[in-house]
Amino acid sequence: MLITFEGIECSGKGTQAQLLLQALINKQYPAILSREPGGVPYGEALRALLKHPELTLPAIWRELRGHEDFPDLKLLPYEFSRSSECELFMFLAARAEFVNSFVRPKLAQGKIVILDRFLDSTRAYQGGGRFYSHPDKISLISQMNRLASPGLNPDITFFLNISVAEMIQRQQSKRGGDAFFERTCNKSFFERVRQEYLTIAQEAPERVVVIDGAKDINKINAQIVHATEIRLLSRYTED
Ligand code: TMP
Repeated sequence: MLITFEGIECSGKGTQAQLLLQALINKQYPAILSREPGGVPYGEALRALLKHPELTLPAIWRELRGHEDFPDLKLLPYEFSRSSECELFMFLAARAEFVNSFVRPKLAQGKIVILDRFLDSTRAYQGGGRFYSHPDKISLISQMNRLASPGLNPDITFFLNISVAEMIQRQQSKRGGDAFFERTCNKSFFERVRQEYLTIAQEAPERVVVIDGAKDINKINAQIVHATEIRLLSRYTED
C-alpha cells in the first residue's frame, strides 16, 4: 500500500507523516516513511541542488576544481536560478530513481510505504506554480509522471490544506525557511500551487482526502489514522 502526503510549505505534512508511521508501527503494520525528492543517494543529491543551490553548486565546483573534465568551471558565474523545465526534469529524475530503487522494492516486500510528497507535488508546484496550470503542460506533466513512475499510483493521498496566509504566518514563526522555493517564490506562486492541489483533489475524490491543516495536530492525526485503517481493512477483506 502506498500512502502519500501533500501540501504547500509548512502545511504539517512531515509531522503528520511521522505520526502516521508511528501509529502504524504501534499497531504492528510493516510501515516505512521516506520523502521526495530524496530517499536514495541520487534523489538526495538532486534534493540538495533543488532546495539549496547556493550551497551545493559552490561545493561541487570546489570539489571539481582542477579536474580535466571541467576546464572552464572557474569561468562560470555563481548563478542559482534555473529554468522551469530544468527544475521539472530534476524532480522527475529524482522520482525515477526513487521509485526504482526504493518504492518498488519496498512495496514488493509487502511494506506500507508512506511518502512525504510524490506525483501530485510535481503537478501542483511545476504545473500550477511554474506553468500556471496550462492544460497542455498539465497533460505533459501527467505523462512524465507516468514515465518516472510507471503504473504506480498512491492508494490514498492526504492533502493538508492550509491557506497561503497561514503558510506565511507559520514560516515567520519557524526558524529556517531558507530553502529555494520559500526564498524565491511569491504569494501568488503558492496560491497557484494550492489551487492545483484542490483541482487534483476534485478530480480524484476516491484517492485524495482533503484535511483542514489548520486543525489541532492530534485531531488531524486521528482523522488520518482512521482513514488509513479503513483502507487497510478493505484491502485485507478484498484479499
Ligand atoms: P520539502 O520536502 O521540505 O517539502 O521540500 C521539497 C520542496 O520541493 C518543496 O518546496 C516542494 C518542492 N517540490 C516540487 O516543486 N516538485 C516536486 O515534484 C516535489 C516532490 C517537490
